[in-house]
Amino acid sequence: MALVTTKEMFQKAYEGGYAIGAFNVNNMEIVQGITEAAKEENAPIILQVSAGARKYAKHAYLVKLVEAAIADTDLPIALHLDHGADFEICKACIDGGFTSVMIDGSHLSFEENIALTKKVVEYAHAHGVVVEGELGRLAGVEDDVNVSAEDASYTRPDEVEEFVSRTGVDSLAIAIGTSHGAFKFKPGQKPELRFDILEEIGKRLPNFPIVLHGASSVSQEYVKLINENGGKLDDAIGIPEEMLRKAASLAVCKINIDSDLRLAFTAGIREYMNQNPEHFDPRQYLSPARNYIKEIVRHKIVNVLGCSGKAL
Ligand code: G3H
Ligand code: 13P
Ligand code: ZN
Repeated sequence: MALVTTKEMFQKAYEGGYAIGAFNVNNMEIVQGITEAAKEENAPIILQVSAGARKYAKHAYLVKLVEAAIADTDLPIALHLDHGADFEICKACIDGGFTSVMIDGSHLSFEENIALTKKVVEYAHAHGVVVEGELGRLAGVEDDVNVSAEDASYTRPDEVEEFVSRTGVDSLAIAIGTSHGAFKFKPGQKPELRFDILEEIGKRLPNFPIVLHGASSVSQEYVKLINENGGKLDDAIGIPEEMLRKAASLAVCKINIDSDLRLAFTAGIREYMNQNPEHFDPRQYLSPARNYIKEIVRHKIVNVLGCSGKAL
């Protein structure tokens, strides 16, 4: 099996009413934890790399780790650039072996977003790579961007047909109330997503894959483990799982998850080190962290995404 694009994955997910998990990767243990769970569940998978991850681990290391995971699992895996900020990073990833890129022009004007996205699509399609665009703005914190709740804005359904037809994108990320990071709602606030917007977009773009960013559920089990073992995470709140299941049954074919992996990994390390303060071999404390990644990814595949047994 070689790296695949998301085209066939999304078509089957759309028809089958499930979604594919797009998990952020930064190091070997995270790649292994995700792909071991996917292997055991025979699930298709997207591994995605942010600009921050490329800076941290280096492009070549991440590509080789993902290639190793394919050799190890024989699963259909897509390698995706998460939140590409400009043409240059998209080009570097297309030239450097990725099968999918996101160009995130969501902070630009509608016309500027179209122009930039179209430029990336032309280059990507000429090289057999698919492109995700974004309309609407999520709140929350990513590496280089911090969007306040006031600056966030829902996707306007009346813009999606024009955006997709003029750019030629293969999938579209939308903003319906999810946000990046582990603090998605204020304490006491009722978590809500704008399913009316998703449904309207689904009607306007029939048989077209929609992407949900900021879709971690922030497992309270891992938050508790972190806090019980010397961490301090107050008021971490995520998207309720039943909302993600509903989105997956509609037009959403790709669900982005990063914060949940960070929490699981950190919980594993903290718990181990707290119980074994005299240990200093990274293999000892990274093993439980990798196992927690595997556990959370399996949980997502089976209980949230519905893609168990769907590897092509
Ligand atoms: O949406 C962003 C992802 O969670 C990646 O975060 O830019 O800190 O690697 P990062
Ligand atoms: P979370 O912060 O909710 O995991 O979102 C990740 C994401 O959207 C990556 O693009
Ligand atoms: Zn995102």
